[in-house]
Amino acid sequence: METRPYVQWELINNFMIDVFKAYGVPEQDAAICADVLLESDRRGIESHGCNRFKPIYLDRIKNGTLLPKTNIEIVKETPTTVVMNANNGLGMVASHKMMEMLIEKAKVYGLAGGTIYNSTHYGIAGYWTTMAEKAGMIGMTGTNARPSVAATFGVEPMMGTNPLTFTMPTDEEFPFNFDCATSTIQNGKIEFYERSGKPTPAGLLITKDGNTMTDSGEILRQMRAGNCALTPLGGLGEETGGYKGYGFTTIVEILSAALAGGPHTRALSGKNEKGENDFYRLGHFFFVINPEFFMGLDTFKSTTGDICRALRGSTKAPGAERIYTAGEKEWLSWQERKDLGVPVGEAIQKEFIQLRDECNLSYKFPFEK
Ligand SMILES: NC(=O)c1ccc[n+]([C@@H]2O[C@H](COP(=O)([O-])OP(=O)(O)OC[C@H]3O[C@@H](n4cnc5c(N)ncnc54)[C@H](O)[C@@H]3O)[C@@H](O)[C@H]2O)c1
Repeated sequence: METRPYVQWELINNFMIDVFKAYGVPEQDAAICADVLLESDRRGIESHGCNRFKPIYLDRIKNGTLLPKTNIEIVKETPTTVVMNANNGLGMVASHKMMEMLIEKAKVYGLAGGTIYNSTHYGIAGYWTTMAEKAGMIGMTGTNARPSVAATFGVEPMMGTNPLTFTMPTDEEFPFNFDCATSTIQNGKIEFYERSGKPTPAGLLITKDGNTMTDSGEILRQMRAGNCALTPLGGLGEETGGYKGYGFTTIVEILSAALAGGPHTRALSGKNEKGENDFYRLGHFFFVINPEFFMGLDTFKSTTGDICRALRGSTKAPGAERIYTAGEKEWLSWQERKDLGVPVGEAIQKEFIQLRDECNLSYKFPFEK
């Protein structure tokens, strides 16, 4: 079992900002990106935190598929809507701007919605909906992604893991925050299993000949080669409702491409016709609802809290220790980690040292002897 020493939040935050800056990201944007990645670690989401720093952001800046300076263009704007072109810059920077704009609009008009096209990976979807929740509003978002999920009865990777995420304010210490992919598993979690030397549970993906695989490293290799696909929520076929997840994934694909105005399905591979690296040209959508324009924020919060408490207080299955509501585990993770810092596994330790040396920075990490 790998040991994962903790690194203090401030140290890792400053380090990430400095590395982003060395890669050409302006300081303010670097601070946003570091905060989005670390929010994943705060919430205990192992797949989208500092582990993604190098492969999904820095390596893509280096190979030219992500531009470090985000030229945000507001293409269309009304009192309640925004259409934004991220011009292949950082999706996290564009999404931050989008949520700031939508929250201001929803304060005045009650509802606001926006889309972004020509974007790149925007990290955990729940970061954006939590911005709305912190402003006393309901946040909803989704994004398309590199094709990795098959249609029900299909084997070809066609759609991304396409999260569909909501965060709602409650009268509790934590919100209702349902933030997950519309596939049974997402790529980041398989990467986490691989780094931890663990197999991927059976049945979560389908090979071209209709079988499943559990070797996490082999799955990632075969996925990159387009030889297997993840299944939508509900799993294979129709028996356990796989077509329902398939429907939700498709909804996210439609809103991210048709409403945002960008490519979809196979065209999101990050490769051009010659098989060379290309921009991902992702699309995202965001909606903000202000409860003050409905039953009022206090009523909304107490009823949502009541619903969550009723669910958690309902009769448990034999052997089950507790019932959770969405957002609770993430809050518990933060309670545990806030004084400890981020647990950093061996592969990430090596990446950090390599990045520090490459960028001529003088950080000393607690995991270094
Ligand atoms: N940007 C992208 O392209 C992209 C793509 C896929 C996923 N993601 C992100 O990856 C992250 C992880 O996604 P995932 O699909 O692995 O999530 P997951 O399967 O770990 O599910 C997480 C969600 O389920 C809730 N949850 C977990 N156990 C629960 C229980 N027992 N009872 C009630 N609720 C419970 C959590 O509170 C959380 O809301 C998310 O933040 C998502 O936004 C991003």
